[in-house]
Amino acid sequence: MRQAGRILAEYRAVRQEAGSFINLVSNPELAAEVTIQPVDILGVDAAIIFSDILVIPEAMGLPYEMVEQKGPNFPETIQTESDLARLRIADPEKDLSYVLNAIKITKSRLQERVPLIGFAGAPFTIFCYMTEGKGSKTFSVAKKILYSDPELAHHLLQMITDSTIRYLKAQVNAGVDLVQLFDSWAGVLSPEHYQAYSLPYLKQICDAITEVPVTVFAKGAFFARKSIGELNCSVVGLDWNMDIAESRQLIPGKTLQGNLDPCVLYASYDEIRKQTRSMLEAFGSHPFIANLGHGVYPDTDPDKVRCFIETVREFRATQP
Ligand code: CP3
Repeated sequence: MRQAGRILAEYRAVRQEAGSFINLVSNPELAAEVTIQPVDILGVDAAIIFSDILVIPEAMGLPYEMVEQKGPNFPETIQTESDLARLRIADPEKDLSYVLNAIKITKSRLQERVPLIGFAGAPFTIFCYMTEGKGSKTFSVAKKILYSDPELAHHLLQMITDSTIRYLKAQVNAGVDLVQLFDSWAGVLSPEHYQAYSLPYLKQICDAITEVPVTVFAKGAFFARKSIGELNCSVVGLDWNMDIAESRQLIPGKTLQGNLDPCVLYASYDEIRKQTRSMLEAFGSHPFIANLGHGVYPDTDPDKVRCFIETVREFRATQP
């Protein structure tokens, strides 16, 4: 899950060397180095390229800053149809070559030890940042546009989707083995709005990326699990609000990924083992990828993450 590296002292050292988060993201050598750290140090069995979902707005003409201790901020946002004139469809070979180079370096250094995951934000989540300009509990500025100017919303969502398809195809060409779409703010939408403003764009992306498996992770969208399961994707990510038994019934034909609450990693070692085993048992015979239900929090003890990983490995060793 996202930000596995930031709990590591080794990550913080490289980040300091880079000077800032954005410098680190845009330096392919250093990005490759921190991508591989969790594989070597924690023993996870896949790597996710070190980048951010916000590189897409930037490649479309809307740059972001990362404010220390606070998160992303966009000095300019999209509010009206006329603002769209400032945007372009991203050209990944030109505007995102640093990510593609980081992928190439990572692939060659990994030597096929573990697969490399590429990723992008889902169009609705990117729309949230491009209109709201920063994180929010409600994303009411973004949602205001859905209610007051649906045409603008669809126009912008389509531009993001076109950019994302190009970007993911370029990641595949650079060497990623699978891709994940993060719909981190899916949970702020009503079921009707999710059908209207998120699913059609996820569908376009899933239909376009045929070369590698696609994972769709829509945080908080428990109400859309059935529809997400019907997309042309291979894996559906679950967060810890989503009951595993219920999810297995709603999504019978697909691999499921998740879904331990990252806060479980604040518990004792015994409790972590217990909670992890109970998650693994709940997946039962259903194909699954053991993971957390969202990103690991920065103050998590790396030894607790190792305990989670070891519990999964031990369980796997006992399986036929
Ligand atoms: O595990 C990894 O390091 C993979 C790389 C990765 C990052 N961001 C690096 C990062 C991935 C896959 C992301 C995705 C991302 N970025 C999402 C979707 C996943 C999710 O969490 O729902 C979102 C919403 C973002 C936007 C973003 N980036 C926010 C809101 C923040 C600040 C808040 C926070 O949680 O720290 C970031 C910063 C960010 N992106 C960090 C990392 C390692 C932390 C920066 C640091 O502390 O060095």
